[in-house]
Amino acid sequence: MKKLGICLLIACLAGACNAKPQESVAPAVSAENTVSHPTGNKTPHILVAYFSRADENYSVGNIRTGNTQKVAEEIARQTGGTLFHIQPVKSYPAAYKPCTEVAKQEQDAQARPTLTQKVPDMDQYDVIYLGYPIWWGDVPMAVYTFLESYDFSNKIIRPFATHEGSGLGRTPTTLPKALPHSKVSPGLALYGHVAQNEPDRVRTAVSQWIAQ
Ligand SMILES: Cc1cc2nc3c(=O)[nH]c(=O)nc-3n(C[C@H](O)[C@H](O)[C@H](O)COP(=O)(O)O)c2cc1C
Repeated sequence: MKKLGICLLIACLAGACNAKPQESVAPAVSAENTVSHPTGNKTPHILVAYFSRADENYSVGNIRTGNTQKVAEEIARQTGGTLFHIQPVKSYPAAYKPCTEVAKQEQDAQARPTLTQKVPDMDQYDVIYLGYPIWWGDVPMAVYTFLESYDFSNKIIRPFATHEGSGLGRTPTTLPKALPHSKVSPGLALYGHVAQNEPDRVRTAVSQWIAQ
């Protein structure tokens, strides 16, 4: 397992994932669809939608709550947003290595895994905090299913990722492409093992990012 993890990370760090290890805010994604303030005159309605997988993972071992979920819960706590778990009907293997293999096959096939539930009324939300682990340099394919299930026109999307070396990976490019009519703001990237084990650092990183 360790071997595969190392290979995966080496591939990413070598550039395949546009690696940018960091616990900070990424550069703006593009001039025309970048915002930094989810404001306006009214109080925004906030959704915190996230994909996250528990079970065995790189660097953290067997976990009950996924790394990204921990960050999502902190964002919801600080913003008062509504949490929504993006969950595929077919769960991934609990072991790390088989999970990476399934994820790679899905990415190669540009799969769109079916999700277990829908957001009841997406229209009411102005700001979507979108959380995901970096999988092979991008979002898990179930996140694309989620993005293609709603009209996100004119909504503000605030991406946040957990990773083990790739930072936001390719998502500063892939998300704006998938959301051409939304305003995709600079994302937050946190190491998965920090998200899992260091709540104080998560709290601080989240509050600094939200304030931007
Ligand atoms: C299928 C799979 C692919 C992964 N690919 C990458 C990657 O390309 N770059 C990286 O830095 N970490 C990668 N990781 C590590 C995860 O991004 C990291 O453990 C993340 O925090 C997991 O979040 P979660 O617990 O919310 O699912 C991968 C993990 C898995 C399971």
